[in-house]
Amino acid sequence: MKICMIGSGYVGLVSGVCFADLGNNVICVDKETNKIDNLKNGIIPIYEPGLEELVKKNFKNGNLNFSTNLKDSVSKSDIIFICVGTPTKKNTNAADLSQIFAVTREIKKSIKKYKIIVTKSTVPVATGDEIEKILSTSKLKKLFSVVSNPEFLREGEAIRDFIYPDRIVIGTSEIRANKIMKNLYSPLISKGANYLNTNRRAAELIKYASNAFLASKITFINEISNLCENIGVNIEDVSIGMGLDKRIGSRFLRAGPAYGGSCFPKDTRAITDTGIKFKTDLSLIKSVIKSNDNRTNLLLKRVQHILKNKIKDKIICFLGVTFKANTDDMRESSCLKMIPFLSKKGANINYFDPSGKKKILQKIKNVNYLSSIKEACLNADLVIIHTEWNEFKSINFKNLVKKKNFSIYDMRNIYSYKKMKRDNIKYFCIGR
Ligand SMILES: NC(=O)c1ccc[n+]([C@@H]2O[C@H](COP(=O)([O-])OP(=O)(O)OC[C@H]3O[C@@H](n4cnc5c(N)ncnc54)[C@H](O)[C@@H]3O)[C@@H](O)[C@H]2O)c1
Repeated sequence: MKICMIGSGYVGLVSGVCFADLGNNVICVDKETNKIDNLKNGIIPIYEPGLEELVKKNFKNGNLNFSTNLKDSVSKSDIIFICVGTPTKKNTNAADLSQIFAVTREIKKSIKKYKIIVTKSTVPVATGDEIEKILSTSKLKKLFSVVSNPEFLREGEAIRDFIYPDRIVIGTSEIRANKIMKNLYSPLISKGANYLNTNRRAAELIKYASNAFLASKITFINEISNLCENIGVNIEDVSIGMGLDKRIGSRFLRAGPAYGGSCFPKDTRAITDTGIKFKTDLSLIKSVIKSNDNRTNLLLKRVQHILKNKIKDKIICFLGVTFKANTDDMRESSCLKMIPFLSKKGANINYFDPSGKKKILQKIKNVNYLSSIKEACLNADLVIIHTEWNEFKSINFKNLVKKKNFSIYDMRNIYSYKKMKRDNIKYFCIGR
């Protein structure tokens, strides 16, 4: 099939490459000329394991192309996936849909024969209706279908998630569009993926409800870990004990910092806004947002306690700054609140992240990127393990850190606190 992905970011690029690898003819479009030029030269704009090889292979065999020309790419394609950003609108909880509607108006100019317009971006309920309205003119009647196909891939595991998804959700009530979409996904369905056809609004809501549920699960276990700290129970035991119940499941039950990333924070906010629009009080989700917002303050209080409230001139090393491992994505990472706070209090921050130096941290006073774990830890008074990269899982801190009295705050519970105690290291963790 001839496919056009509009927006070549985490979702558009990964799913575009995977569609190409399944034998389709794919054009990935982006408005950033630099990004498209780089992609044509095999330079990948994001850190995603396995992506580079797949891009190079499919670009070479001609299944995958890159372009900044939206009009031309749309007119050459049968299925158009909208994969642009839907961030939170400034000073509101609502999703900012300006990129979606700008793209829709562009697509409208290029519809000359039947096309399926698919929202892969996460969009609030009834956005598909709005897109349909924009596209509808008497001339274009019957020349398009607007379908919702929310994306559930996780950064860091995006390619695997795309090829082996738990489910493929297609929101359309049109038989013709559903048949084409099912055919497109048939190689994944035959490998065992569940295919669910719903109406469009249900598909849009499934995405938000899923993210809100997962965010609630993380927030729930984080709150239980606070309780564990006060009553001397190990959160890991509680997580395992709860997770063994099949109704609950063990995933997303690991206590840690506040959830972040490009999806959970904005999507939980946006669904509460949808609640307001449709006169429904989503009080549980509102509490989750509040609890998660408080979590970073709570962990910062712990940091101050560890350093006995003497932050000024202390050297604090952050191991990992992205919101989770195996991605370079800094969007709404909890360290974006922690680092400026500690820097303002006079701390010197050294950080190392396997995905490299971060532009967003460059402007903050006394923050330095070091190019190895060793250099970052060397003079630290406190090492904060913020992200769970494999690289951080077997560090010999005793050999690495020069200062005698250093502490470790392991926000991911990577290390055994018993071993740390035996090694005489001042070790703090979450809910243990
Ligand atoms: N990142 C994830 O893990 C993930 C997972 C599932 C769903 N989503 C959803 O998918 C959507 C995209 O997320 P993302 O993380 O890929 O965003 P992103 O910011 O990485 O990518 C969006 C891309 O769209 C491009 N773009 C914007 N306007 C354009 C236009 N007019 N023409 C061409 N290109 C344009 C941008 O330049 C950018 O490269 C969001 O709605 C997000 O919620 C993201």
